[in-house]
Amino acid sequence: MTRHLSSTITISRNASASSCSAGELREIRECLDRNGYSYINGISMGEFDYMAFAASLGNPIPHHNGEVVWDIRRDLAIDSIYHSGNMGALLPHTEAVEHPGLPPRYIMLWCVREARGVGGETTLADGYEWIKNLSGETKRSLRDNRYKWNSSDGINRSGYYSSAIHPILEEFGDRRILRYDYIDVERKGDGFLDSALDGAKEFFSEQHIAIEIEPGCILVWDNWRMLHGRNAFSDPERHLKRVLLSAHARS
Ligand SMILES: [Fe+2]
Repeated sequence: MTRHLSSTITISRNASASSCSAGELREIRECLDRNGYSYINGISMGEFDYMAFAASLGNPIPHHNGEVVWDIRRDLAIDSIYHSGNMGALLPHTEAVEHPGLPPRYIMLWCVREARGVGGETTLADGYEWIKNLSGETKRSLRDNRYKWNSSDGINRSGYYSSAIHPILEEFGDRRILRYDYIDVERKGDGFLDSALDGAKEFFSEQHIAIEIEPGCILVWDNWRMLHGRNAFSDPERHLKRVLLSAHARS
């Protein structure tokens, strides 16, 4: 499946090249509320101010090593382990399950250099749709059972281990927060957890969309709602940039 046309916003060339208009920003927020993500094109990469745009959606949160903008590109030092810095597929997850407090509300990626050849798409599926079809008892257990979530091997390898204990589903005001990671959760023979993880993985495999982010373009999604992953690729020059955003008061 490919992205919804209604989630694509094309920034007008009549607007300032460094930003989008107030109307375009409103449309992007509407996409995020409606479909859980927005794809933004029509951007002039050399002129657009990505961080000013990011700040209009939320407050940037530093990554584990203190960097606000994280480069996603091949890192030969971690080529053999499960990490965004190699060219392998990434299983569905929500970002920053190991953060002790609220996870980032939005994840924003933009493309410096696309993966040429097959693969490299960012994959997304609506986690709220997965939850919607579960029984009341399963939803209660997703809220009541708490699990230990760990940082990934790639982050641990660079000396920044962290962990936190959370339920898979949390109520937060009038919002729900979904946390999910097929790999980085302690299982300990818990049959309910195994079945929830497998169920969401199967849902993702059937329902995900695959988005190739074109050079200069932005993909942003609601990390409290959407599951994301990545298709494997073979072009070592693929290069994306990532910013984590907390929610503004409106969210
Ligand atoms: Fe991720």
